[in-house]
Order: sequence, then structure tokens, then C-alpha cells
Amino acid sequence: MVAERDQDIPSSRIPIIDLSNPDQELVARAVVKASEEWGVFQLINHGIPTELIQRLQNVGRRFFELSEGEKNEVAKLDDSREGYARRYALDLEKRIGTVDQLFHNVWPPSAVNYSYWPKNPQDYREVNEEYTRQVKMLSEKIMEWLSEGLGLRREAINEVVGGEYLLNVNYYPPCPHPDVIEGLDAHTDISGLTLLLTNEIPGLQVFKDDQWIDVEYIPFAVIVNISDQILRISNGKYKSVLHKTTVDKEKTRMSWAVLVRPTNDMVVGPFTELIGNDPPKFKSMVYKDYIYRKVRNLPFVDLDS
Ligand code: SIN
Ligand code: FE2
Repeated sequence: MVAERDQDIPSSRIPIIDLSNPDQELVARAVVKASEEWGVFQLINHGIPTELIQRLQNVGRRFFELSEGEKNEVAKLDDSREGYARRYALDLEKRIGTVDQLFHNVWPPSAVNYSYWPKNPQDYREVNEEYTRQVKMLSEKIMEWLSEGLGLRREAINEVVGGEYLLNVNYYPPCPHPDVIEGLDAHTDISGLTLLLTNEIPGLQVFKDDQWIDVEYIPFAVIVNISDQILRISNGKYKSVLHKTTVDKEKTRMSWAVLVRPTNDMVVGPFTELIGNDPPKFKSMVYKDYIYRKVRNLPFVDLDS
């Protein structure tokens, strides 16, 4: 069944790629094609053990089920991008999104601050460290295929965008008005790429060919979003997928996003190898300046448009 899916993907379905296929060149081509056409795909048989994913989801859910007081032991402080933040606020008029979030760096060790990692459940740290090792291997493989898809050395993309890994856990409580309220508003991710797991409640939608398309829930699949920095370094060859989330009337939805991102001072712009015949579509920019402008919705005074 899996093999069949892999062969013939209808154009309205997000590509599903089976990494256990012995023909790894075929897999690489499917990843490149999906990144060019969609900027999103789902990976199955990706090698991250099912049991580890279950444990990761279990410790994350148990953290979010603690009292506010206990969760606030790792609260986000004003000037920090890490920590727990309660963002749940039901405002029908303003159509405010309803999602509580936890952020903490997971790699490299020099960027990790354990004071933002939950102490409860006790195995939170061990499970998250093991998941980080696994997800990093997977993201490096994807970046190798994408580098080769640009005709570059296989380390090329990782050297620019693979400097830091940030985990973002989202918790969307049941919402009585899913018709009016969305989870996260439409956005593209600011990172290089994002590797995402969700619980069994569907809710992710991606925009393609003028319509919103539901991302089908496949147990234990990893959803990969190509994000802004890979769009920029590839000079627009790979898409940064526009996506948003919905909420469920009765059930809590959760997701675990690992954002693979350049370090703050990394200069990110189209690879010089790609801008001979093709003029650059994006101006090179220090990553932290990019973040500054994007989060404030400031225009990019450059070639982006
Ligand atoms: C996100 O876009 O960061 C969250 C995706 C999701 O909850 O599925
Ligand atoms: Fe996102």
C-alpha cells in the first residue's frame, strides 16, 4: 500500500515519500521535486523509531497537562525566545488564535539552556535528547539531497542553515468555534526547514495553486516544511510553503516542530553558484536581521517581492 502511494501521487495530495525504498536516488529525486513544487512533503519509514516518537509525544503531552503554575517554572521571559507561553485566548471578534507553546533549543549543546526544558516529566530531557539526535540525522540527509538537487556539494545547505535546532511544541486546546477561530495564522516558517510531528488530530493546511489543502494525518510520519532560508539560498528553486492550522471542537491537537535554522550571525543569500545566468532574487542578509524584519512585518528593502 505504501509502495503504491509512492508511485502515483495525485496533484492535490501532499507528496508522501517512503525513505525505506532501496532506490535512494529515486528518493532523493522525489524530495527535490516535492521541494520545488510544494515546499512540503511527508516522510514515512524514515528511520526514527516509532516507540521514540510515542515517548516524545507522551512527555510533551504530560508537560502541557500540568497546572499553569508548574508549567510556568519554564516560562518564557520577555527577552527570551525560549520557554513556555500561554497564548490561549478565545476572542471571537478578533478571531484570536488559540495555541499554547513551548520553545527550547535542542542543538548544538552550546545553544542549549536546560532551564527552559521541563523537569517534569522526569524523562523529558532524555527522550528529547534522543529525538534530537535522530531528527538531526534525518534533516542532514534531507539537506544533502537538496544540496545535490542544486548541483552543489552535499554539505552546502547544512553549512548555511543547519547551525541550530529549536524545538517548538504547540498545544491547541479544544475550541468551541473552529469555524471562526484558527490555530496559527497563515505563515511561512522563518527557519531553513522544519520537521514536524503531530498527534492524531488533523489540522495542518498548506496553500498550493490558490487553495488550502489538508495535510492528511499519517501515524508516525514526519512532515517536512521547506522554509524561508532554503527558499533564499536556492534562489527560489525550492518553495517556502505557506501553511496554517485549524483547531478541533472537542479534542486537543498537538504538534512538535523542530526548526533547523542558521545561527544568528550567518549571512544567508542565494548561493553564488546559482546566480550566473539567473539573477539573484533575494539579497544576502544576516539571519538575525531577517528575523527582526519578518517578525515586525517590515518590508525587505531588497529584491524580494
Ligand atoms: C506550525 O506551523 O508551526 C505548527 C504546525 C502544526 O501545528 O501542525
Ligand atoms: Fe509553521
